[in-house]
This record gives sequence, structure tokens and C-alpha cells, in this order.
Amino acid sequence: MQGIILAGGTGSRLFPMTLSVNKQLLPVYDKPMIYYPISTLMGAGIRDILIISGPAELPLYQRLLKDGSQWGVHFDYALQEHPDGLAQALLIAEPFTKGRPAVMILGDNLFVSPDLNRILRNLDESATGATVFAYPVTDPERYGVVEFDDSLRAISIEEKPRVPKSKYAVTGIYHYDGHAAEYARTLKPSARGELEITDLNMIYLKRGELKVHILSRGTAWLDTGTPDSLLDASDFVRIIENRQGLKIGCPEEIAFNQGWIGRDELLALAAPLSKNLYGQYLIDLAHGEL
Ligand code: G1P
Repeated sequence: MQGIILAGGTGSRLFPMTLSVNKQLLPVYDKPMIYYPISTLMGAGIRDILIISGPAELPLYQRLLKDGSQWGVHFDYALQEHPDGLAQALLIAEPFTKGRPAVMILGDNLFVSPDLNRILRNLDESATGATVFAYPVTDPERYGVVEFDDSLRAISIEEKPRVPKSKYAVTGIYHYDGHAAEYARTLKPSARGELEITDLNMIYLKRGELKVHILSRGTAWLDTGTPDSLLDASDFVRIIENRQGLKIGCPEEIAFNQGWIGRDELLALAAPLSKNLYGQYLIDLAHGEL
């Protein structure tokens, strides 16, 4: 399975923080925001990952993440000239996916989920259709909203409806079969001038091919779109990490635990960070002291 991370957008709700820094490079407690979606994919065993961002930002991601080999994965990079909607990512990703299925995750979505790894690992690569991951929220009107039947087949999906038909928000992680780019090509820009991911999901729905996974109780899905939600996400990570002494969204740890990098490689990654707690954590991990 391949992964796509969309790290574009203007982040206008976070201005002036994002006037010169791409949103997904902002810190969420002790690491850049993009480490979290990368960790979500890596935790699901996905090692072939495309990162999509704008012209000014892409070099920053390349500097931060390199080719991925330091973490036992492979990063490709693709340019989104202009942020014209989430569904555009599937078109940009076409030379990478080449008609194969992929998991797409939004670079500003943070999941702490006991079951997401397992669900993603169990996705049937040969199955036709798309899957969205639903999460009950108290303010569904802020999101894509999905309504579904007893067999978890989507009945309706709407983008930021004034009167939501369910309390289930569509989170920013999606699984698409190899037809996603072909369908995305038929989309027309919405009223706000974007190729909407909800419109792409609607195509799958009309074909009877949109499945829904409900993220279980206990899952944290945090979005980082406003100053408050960004701070909430940092607080959440800080509280859990300090309480358990274990990190959330640490790609080095995932790579090490999956056997993609060895002890020496982990220590080499830790060396430049050894003066801070992140580096110390990696050193403890390498020595089996966590
Ligand atoms: C986008 C999608 C929306 C989804 C949300 C998840 O919204 O359009 O369907 O629920 O991501 O984060 P945006 O954040 O672009 O407003």
C-alpha cells in the first residue's frame, strides 16, 4: 500500500503564524506536525509515501525528511502549484500511484488511535471502492459529514452542511482504490473554487462503493486548524507523553520497532538531538530502556 500526505494549503486560519511557515511544519508539542501523519502511515506498515506541497514549502519538507531512508521508508515529493482542493492531490499523485490503491492523509490531522493501525493494515488492496473514517463530534457542521446504514455503507456525504444528517465527521484519512485519479479528473471546482474531496467521495457513494469505518471510542482525532485546536493538540500530546514516558508520532521509534532501522542507525539519528529530551528518548529506546 502507498501513502499520500497532503501538506499544502495556505493555513489562513492560523495567520500570522503561517504567513511564512507552512502549517504542517508548525510544532505540535515536541515535533513538527507532519511527523504525526507520517507516523500514522508508518505505523500501518506503509513505507512508500508521497508528500505533496506548494513551491515554497516543498524544499523545506525535503530538508526535514530527506528521502526517508533514515527511517527505513521512501519519500517522494510532488508539487501542488496552487492549493486547488484536496481532491487535486489524487491527480498530482497519479504518476506515483499509477492506478494502484493508496491511503491519503491530510498533513494537519492527528490520530491517536488504538485501532487505526489494525484497520489500515487489514484494508483489502484488491477491493474496489473507497473508505472514509468516521468520528463522532459535537460540531459536525465544521466537517464533511457522512451518514451510513447498518452495514456501514455510506448513504449520504456532505461538506460542512448547515443541518448535518449525522454526528459523524469524515476525518482526514481516506483509502482509495486505483480509480481515484480517473474519477477526480471528472470533478468540477466547487463554489469556493476547489476540487472537493467530498465530491470525489460522492462519486464512490453513487457507485455504492463508499465504505465507512467508525473510529472507536477512545480514539483521539485532533485537528489543528485554529490557534485553539493547535494548542489543544500540543497539550494532548504533552500530557500523554509526560504521563506515560512514551512518545506519540515518533517516526524513529516506529522505524526501530518495526525493524526497519537498527540500533546503530537509531543512535546516529539521536546524536544531533542528544542535548534534548527527544534525542534522549531515542537513546533510551536504542538501549531498551523505555
Ligand atoms: C477537509 C475536508 C472535510 C474533512 C476535514 C477533515 O476540510 O474537506 O471533509 O472533514 O478536512 O479535517 P477542511 O479542513 O479543508 O476545511
